[in-house]
This record gives sequence, C-alpha cells and structure tokens, in this order.
Amino acid sequence: MSKKIPTSRVDKLLGSMGYGSRAEMARLGKAGGIVLDGADLTDVSKRIPVTPDLPSRMEIDGEPLDPVQGLVMLLNKPLGMTCSRKEDGSLVYDILPDRWKRRDPAISTIGRLDKQTTGLLLLTDDGDLLHRVISPKRHVAKVYRATLARPLTGTEGALFASGDLVLEGEDKPLAPAILEVVSPTEALLTVTEGRYHQVRRMFAAAGNHVEALHRERLGGLVLPDDLAPGEWRLLTPDEIELIFA
Ligand code: URA
Repeated sequence: MSKKIPTSRVDKLLGSMGYGSRAEMARLGKAGGIVLDGADLTDVSKRIPVTPDLPSRMEIDGEPLDPVQGLVMLLNKPLGMTCSRKEDGSLVYDILPDRWKRRDPAISTIGRLDKQTTGLLLLTDDGDLLHRVISPKRHVAKVYRATLARPLTGTEGALFASGDLVLEGEDKPLAPAILEVVSPTEALLTVTEGRYHQVRRMFAAAGNHVEALHRERLGGLVLPDDLAPGEWRLLTPDEIELIFA
C-alpha cells in the first residue's frame, strides 16, 4: 500500500521548520521571498503536498528550503560538546543552523555521547527511528575506539565477552561485548547497549582508564573519513537502513 503524502499550509509548514511566525511568512510571501517550482508563492494559506523533494523545488529568500520532516543527520561530534541540555557547555545542537532549534517536531540526538567522546552521532526529528535505533531489542552494535592510560593486561576480552560483568552501582550484568586489541593501549570495543558512560566504566572495571574515546560505527554505518570533527551531513535512506544491517 502506498503511503499517503501529507499536505500542509505553507505558512504552517515554514513555521514548523523555524522560518518564522504565520504573519512573518505572509509578509515574506507577499514580498516574493517564497518561490515554488519557479513561481512566486504569495498566498501562504495554500496547502501543498509535503514531499521530500520540496527543498529542490522551493526557495526561501533565495535559498533552498531546509529538509522536510523525517531528516537524519550524521555528525562527527567534536570534543567538548554536550548532547544533553541539562549539562553545562556548548551543545551539539549549536552546530546546526539556528532556525533548526525551532523546528517542530524537534531535532534530538539518537542516544548520547559524553562531552569528552568524539565521533559518530546521529540526530533526527523522527521519533520512531530514534526509538528503533536505541531499543535494546534491536541490539544495534556500536563500535568505540578507546585509548587507554595503561597497557591492556590480556584479560579484558574474556571479561567483556562473559556476559557476567556488573558495572559499579548496577545489578544487571552487561550483555557480552567484543574487544579487539589494536595496540597495548588502544582497542576497539563493540557493545550493543547504551548504559551511562558504559565504555569508560567497563575499562574502569578492568582496572584501566579511558583517555580518549571515539565512536566509529553504529550498526553497519561507519563514520566517513571525509567528515571532519564538527561537520555533519544528511543521511540518505540507504544509509539509514545500514544502521540496522
Ligand atoms: N561509553 C562511554 O563511556 N561514553 C560514551 O560517550 C559512549 C559510550
């Protein structure tokens, strides 16, 4: 069955994308600032189909329309930025265009990385997708590269794979995780859960200390080399599917 294409009034659509109030959109339309399929759109009360191709057909103040609802962004999270609005410091949301903070539905991170963790972070306004990715039932693998303060002892792999490791302050053992040793002080760790500071606490439980932590992969999606820290781009539908591959 084909999915019904949603429609929206232009002023409501643009308002929900953070462009401004209905009155502001009415003024912008009258001033020729809204163009659809090459023609000025002056009546912002008009209903239009909200299709993913709108950004290639619609211009606002001479710029392509922002992506419509259902967007997924891949960010290479830089060091020192937080994902939680409850923490101090600059937020990953500050990297996005300012009006994106006013979008409804809001854009959220899919899971979180600590302030001191870098690498692959997804953001979306698609609540269903967010829940599918973080659902413990899906077992989406996350691969972290950890740089350690002390050399590995050789016992960590078995400890993490055992399914018996209980983190300090918890009572439920961690699901088995896979350790791949890269060098005496560097390892890749694949986990399927997302507990608070999980990787750092796992190495702490093994008597070590994580000095740097970088997420390289989520499911089948790998952080591309050409995405510098602080840079982001939209994911294609095929890339989104890769998360669950
Ligand atoms: N584990 C951590 O300890 N920190 C992160 O940011 C992610 C996983």
